[in-house]
Amino acid sequence: MANEKVAVVSHVTEKSERDDELARIFSAYTVCATIWLIFATAVGVLLALKFVYPDLLVASPELTFGRLRPIHTNDTFYAWASPGLIGLALYIAAKSSGTRLYSAKLAWVTLILLNVAAICGTVALDLGYNHGAQEYREWLWWIRVILGAGLVTAAWNMIATVAHREGKDIYLSNWYTIGGTLWTIVIVIVTLIPWYQHGLGQVAVQGYYMHNAVGMWFTPLSLGVFYYALPKVMNRPIYSYSLGIFAFWTNLTFYPLLGAHHFLFSPLPWWLQTTAIVASVAMLVPVWGGSANYLMTMRGRPERLHRTAAMFILVGVLGYLLGSTQGTVEAFRSLQDVWHFTNYTVGHSHLTMYGFVTFAIWGGIYALLPRATGKEPNNLMLGIHFWLATVGIIVYVMALSIGGTIQGLDWINGDPFIQSVVDMAPYWLWRSVGGTLMFLSHLVFAWNVWVMTYRRSPEARRVAGPVQAGA
Ligand code: HEM
Repeated sequence: MANEKVAVVSHVTEKSERDDELARIFSAYTVCATIWLIFATAVGVLLALKFVYPDLLVASPELTFGRLRPIHTNDTFYAWASPGLIGLALYIAAKSSGTRLYSAKLAWVTLILLNVAAICGTVALDLGYNHGAQEYREWLWWIRVILGAGLVTAAWNMIATVAHREGKDIYLSNWYTIGGTLWTIVIVIVTLIPWYQHGLGQVAVQGYYMHNAVGMWFTPLSLGVFYYALPKVMNRPIYSYSLGIFAFWTNLTFYPLLGAHHFLFSPLPWWLQTTAIVASVAMLVPVWGGSANYLMTMRGRPERLHRTAAMFILVGVLGYLLGSTQGTVEAFRSLQDVWHFTNYTVGHSHLTMYGFVTFAIWGGIYALLPRATGKEPNNLMLGIHFWLATVGIIVYVMALSIGGTIQGLDWINGDPFIQSVVDMAPYWLWRSVGGTLMFLSHLVFAWNVWVMTYRRSPEARRVAGPVQAGA
């Protein structure tokens, strides 16, 4: 009960005057991230079309699948989702602590480092310079050092801001955002140290990295955004502060152990694979606990869901619940027997990184950016963004889940490989349809970001003072 009070107090004591420098920083992070979202997902659409028209744009090596795929994945991760989440985390650190950002300069340095890393990484990958087939760490080592430096400066700024807070308690969101940033710095360092990365050592590190990049970075930051934005848009405190803390510690306990579930049936020790399966099942504790917390906060207020940031947060929470539970199911040996190496996994990646993380970022931006800048997006445009993205991701995930299962069963049956390609063809077409809708939604989002940040027009309603809680 005392903890519930902390949650309410945190929102009440928050500084209410507008902080123009913070608004400028938050806007710049959002605008940069949005530009990268459009670039990275234009590449995603091209990749999707290459499955339907295999001869599309193959003349130059710069446009081949092998070079463009890591550009898509690294840019959605480190140029869209990372700056999008860091911009939100810095804003939340200052506002929930009732203080100013520790250093505006440092925030600009972080943004520059992230953008420099993304530009260098993209150009290098397209010219064929990479770290090899190490998923999500294909960037050359020195580019990952620049990315790491961006994370260190972001963590420093968040911690120093929260250290100057008005009250005694650290608001729950900051546990997640600061915890996630610190864990990720550890993960980046582990993957930069070369000594043990040979043979199976490299496989173990790769499993650790690729899953923790998702689970110890994007997941806690997105959950931290929910814990701050949701009480705002629902105009009530979070259902249970204690449950939020419990989910935080259980996430930290189980997540680092599950990376090896990407390498079931590989030569990695059997006990390590089994440990990863057990940890994958244990993840149901923070996932269901956290999701219940958000859904209970939203209960009984359907009117708040109509064309507000809450719609995006609701889809984000459902994406978290479904995508993570699906991850647990996929970790069982009997089911991975069917789905491993198939397009089912690509559907899972998009359910989590798009249905959960990307929707969480959108929900956070729509809930908080208008409060920072005083400019609200047009309701209709918000609805168009929402429906294009939601229908798009449902089509995308359904197509690859059904197609991927058929593909896996074909392989188990011992059918000729080309049979599985023929069977997948209609599902790849549907993936392109879903992906195109998603991409169109990003253009609408970009327009909304423009309206919420730099656009000066009557449509961009200037709100005198801070927006009412939950408006
Ligand atoms: C217009 C939207 C998008 C389209 C059309 C799209 C398309 C694609 C395609 C075609 C692939 C290659 C799949 C393969 O190798 O079989 C891919 C991979 C991937 N994409 Fe996207 N994508 C989109 C948005 C996103 C976003 C926003 C994120 C993350 C924030 C993301 C994360 C990933 C990841 C993690 C993979 C690797 C999947 C795996 O290996 O399991 N995508 N995407």
